[in-house]
Formats: sequence, structure tokens, C-alpha cells
Amino acid sequence: MPDIASSAQKVIPPGRIDLAIGQPSPRLLPFEVMARAAALAGADPERLLLSYGTEQGESRFREALAHFLRPLYGTPVDPDELLVTNGASQAIDLVCTLFARRGDAIFVEEPTYFLARKIFADHGLKPVALPMDEEGLVVEAVAEALAVRKPAFLYTIPTYHNPTSRCLSAERRLRLARLSRERSLLVVADEVYHPLVYEEAPPPPPLASFCREAEIVSIGSFSKILAPGLRLGWLQADPRHIRRITACGLLDSGGGLNPYTSGIVRGALEHGLVEKHLGFLKETYRLRMFALCAALHAALPSEVRFRRPGGGFFVWLEFPEGLDTEALLPHALERGLEFMPGPRFSNRGALGNCMRLSFAYFEIPDLEEGARRLGRLIRESMNG
Ligand SMILES: Cc1ncc(COP(=O)(O)O)c(C=O)c1O
Repeated sequence: MPDIASSAQKVIPPGRIDLAIGQPSPRLLPFEVMARAAALAGADPERLLLSYGTEQGESRFREALAHFLRPLYGTPVDPDELLVTNGASQAIDLVCTLFARRGDAIFVEEPTYFLARKIFADHGLKPVALPMDEEGLVVEAVAEALAVRKPAFLYTIPTYHNPTSRCLSAERRLRLARLSRERSLLVVADEVYHPLVYEEAPPPPPLASFCREAEIVSIGSFSKILAPGLRLGWLQADPRHIRRITACGLLDSGGGLNPYTSGIVRGALEHGLVEKHLGFLKETYRLRMFALCAALHAALPSEVRFRRPGGGFFVWLEFPEGLDTEALLPHALERGLEFMPGPRFSNRGALGNCMRLSFAYFEIPDLEEGARRLGRLIRESMNG
């Protein structure tokens, strides 16, 4: 198996424009929102915030979350389908613990989220890479792969995929849900970027909306819409699966996974503060995304292919075959630029001619300068 790159938590050296980093810049972190929410929670006469929490997460938090998600998803969300987690990463880890066994095959997209690859490796799972095209995961390929073997689950990022930003079409979502139901295929849908929409048309409803009629566990996170340091996320699934999770040893011993933080964020949800912050983030990221794409258009040779993302954090670049983004990275670092080479997202050691750029961390002038540095590097490498 190719090496798996490690964590996104890192210190950026001065002068470096690190477009590999897929997290919000400090200026975007909601300290005022959290201070207000903490004051609201501290005034709660029940004083439950510092107790063990209920295994599924407090019902009032889940109701507030369901209320927040309904307009974003465009579908009803039942609080009984929600379970509070320590973020999406922990939800993925929990699913691996409870729904797979060491040595099991799982289906993943090619490419896929590089750090999910690491969680799967921790559990000794064997990823089978399935193809994507511009409309997202190719669902016929899932059906064909099922004819060969039954995996423990399929892991997919249907909306504003990491790293490609592709969005699974509505029609394919329906077909995938049908396949999941007919073949009892557990689909783990990582939908953390679903709320970060920059285009007029919202994405199709998430796979979460099929969780009662198909074997779907959807994962969401406050990391992308509020702050990653909260370590707060959720799972959405049929109550049958929720019961399986709440009965596990971890929750039986420790109780709910994040009662303190969810108790604080509940106030922020109930007072519309998360919705307001999300509006601010979407506008900020939308402007950054447009600026980066315009700068890339100006700086890169016309043979380089990329699409303007409809949401999420990333621009995925495809260079002519033969260009090796992993080999290019040391030269980029010398010039104060970092990016994420394509092979890190591949389970086949492929995608050497691709790279992922993120517009979440840097301000517009730095994104533009980053695009210019990349343009010079690519032109030299293609001409030399
Ligand atoms: C697709 C995807 N899933 C999960 C995560 C991690 O989310 P969390 O911070 O909630 O663990 C990320 C963060 O980059 C991501 O891109």
C-alpha cells in the first residue's frame, strides 16, 4: 500500500502559502459565538452540562440540530436518527469498530479523503478503489464490484468531495440508495461539506435523507461550519443502527461522546448563531474560491484542467500525463508554496498528475500569489 500522508495539523513556516491545509484560518474561528453560547449554557438551572451525557446525545441538542439541518438538507430530519460524536473522524472510526472486522474489504472512491485512508488502515481494513467521474461515484461500478465481493461497507463523500469537490448527481443518489437497500450494502456517507454551498442551486438532498429506506449511515461535523477544535459532529442513521452504536462498550462506559460541547453549541443553534456564522463562512469561502479559480485561470497553461467547485474547500487540478506532482512538491516548497499531491488520495498509487488546493485557510491576496507561484513552477516544469 502507498504511504499515507499524516495529519493536517501543522505549523506553517513564515512566507509559505500552504494550499494543502484544509481548515479555516484563525480569523474565521467563532470565538464571539462560542463566548455567547457558553454564557447561555452556564445559566442553565439544570446544571447537567458537566454530568455524563446520555449515550445518543442530549435530546434537546439533537432537536436543535435536526431543526438546523432541515432547511440545509431540504428534507425532514428526525432527532431520533441523530447521534452525537466527537467529529466526523471519530464517527468513521466508530463505524469501522462496530460494522467491520480486521481484514474485511471496504469500497472507497478513487480518489478519497486521505486521512480516512489512515483510519481504515488502523482497523486493518482492505480498501477496494471504485471509479468516479464528473458526476461523482460511478454507481454501476459499485454494482459490478458487489458481484465479486461483499464489503463491510462503502465509504463515499457524495457532496463537494474531498479532494475533487465533485457532487454526486440526484439520480445517482437514488440508484445508490436502491442498491444499498436491495443488496444490504452499508453506505457510510461522509457529508461534512454539504452545508458549504457557493452556487445558486443547492446540492441534491444528502444520502442522509435515505437513511430509513436504505442501509445508510451519514456523517456530519461542526468542524466545517463552526470550528474543528470543538470536536463535535453527528451520525444520522436508522434508529436500528443508532441502537447498535449506543449499546457499544465505549458509550456504555463513557456515556455520550461530547455532552459539554454539545450543551454549549445547543444554545448557539437555538439562537440562530450557527446559521449566521455559516452564512459568513459561505460568503468568505465563495469569494476566496472565485479569486483562486480566476488566478489559476490566468496563471496556468490551458492544458491544465480544473472545474470551479460548487461548494466545499477544494480545487482539484489535473495536469497532462507525465507531470509528477509528488516530485514537484520539494521545488514548490523551495519557492514558498505547498499543495497536496494527487497520489495521497489514491488507493492505487495513481493520480500522479493531479493535485488538491484548498482555499479555506488563506486570504485572497495570498491565494492569488499562490496561484502565480504555481503557474511559474508548472510552466517551467512543462517546458523543461
Ligand atoms: C471528508 C472529510 N471527512 C472528515 C473530516 C474530518 O472531520 P472532523 O474534524 O469532524 O473529524 C474532513 C476534514 O478535512 C474531511 O474532509
